[in-house]
Amino acid sequence: MGCALIGCGKALPALEVQNDELKALVDTNNEWIVTRTGIESRHIAVEETNLDLAERAAREALGWDEGGWSERRIEPEEIDLLIVCTISGDNLVPSEASSLRMRLGLPNAIAFDLNAACTGFVYGTTVVEALMAASAAGVAGAAGRNPVRRALVVGAERLSRITDWAERSTCVLFGDGAGAGVFEWDEERAGVLGSHLVNEDDPTGALTCALTYDMPVPFSEDGIVPDANAEAAVREKAGNPQQAITMNGQAVFKFAARAMADAVTCVLENAGLSLDDIACIVPHQANERIVKFAAKKLECDMDKFHLCIAHAGNTSAASVPLALADAYAAGRIKRGDKVVLVGFGGGFTSGALVYEA
Ligand code: ACO
Repeated sequence: MGCALIGCGKALPALEVQNDELKALVDTNNEWIVTRTGIESRHIAVEETNLDLAERAAREALGWDEGGWSERRIEPEEIDLLIVCTISGDNLVPSEASSLRMRLGLPNAIAFDLNAACTGFVYGTTVVEALMAASAAGVAGAAGRNPVRRALVVGAERLSRITDWAERSTCVLFGDGAGAGVFEWDEERAGVLGSHLVNEDDPTGALTCALTYDMPVPFSEDGIVPDANAEAAVREKAGNPQQAITMNGQAVFKFAARAMADAVTCVLENAGLSLDDIACIVPHQANERIVKFAAKKLECDMDKFHLCIAHAGNTSAASVPLALADAYAAGRIKRGDKVVLVGFGGGFTSGALVYEA
């Protein structure tokens, strides 16, 4: 018995921006971007919101719209749990998951957002598996309260809104998109065989994005400052902080390559498997060179990794489910195959999960 993946889907905005087009914004070129990252183009959401992208990916995964892969159509009332993994939700309240629950009309789903940056989908799926296993085992409290038999996990990002389009070292990397997976507890299938999650400190702030609140605050250390406009003027003079991703590329590169190889090694060890047992590895699509570096460390053929970074760029929490849906669409994953999902990102977070398809 286990938590089986029974559907997945993806969404990319219509506008595709080629590397050379970014020359209009920053001093860069196609050759530099392709050689350093493997990215040729990315998709940008102009009118579509993060929620729009999440909804499109979810509908494919649920078998409601064409384009995804699903074993059967899932009815709205069958979903018990909805997790949206994102760092670029449309609102703080309601959560993206609450908004998506209403859009999709999932009457029985509890819904919440999860921020583990680019590792979001691996974290989210691990939470799902744990709740399903607890429900199935009748663990005190868990089974009686919110039994989880079917769950929808979505990764959705509109990173273009938190990208500094004047900073060439970051703006060439990111894109918008969404991916989704539907999971079901199945007495007959193995499903998720193991997972391994890691958090470690990022003491130098190698990867950050501040949350900038814009309302003037009419207080000082001495108490209330009735003229909120005066406070706003002071803040303007000091310079408004930017809500944009900042990154020390080389520090992140070193962390990512090590963390990715370690996560794959640990999850396979925990599950009593070796790389030879694995049909496909779906990694976070941050940079093709990071994947190559990790593959070398693992002594694993690059052919085993499924990449779609060339035309999607780095879509953070959307990246792993988007690539997973792409792998199914390409016919790379068949029933019975063992598949590894591996992520790494801000926090720092990292982790891997292995499942039997
Ligand atoms: N176009 C042209 N030149 C550029 C660009 C650009 N877009 N960006 C930087 N350069 C220049 C730099 O200014 C520098 O010039 P200089 O030597 O004259 O100073 C030169 O290129 C080399 O810069 P480096 O930063 O050393 O380049 P590097 O080989 O490290 O590649 C990169 C940079 C691609 C960002 C790399 O460090 C990387 O991929 N890091 C991983 C970060 C990552 O993937 N983050 C994703 C977000 S986090 C996540 O998903 C986990």
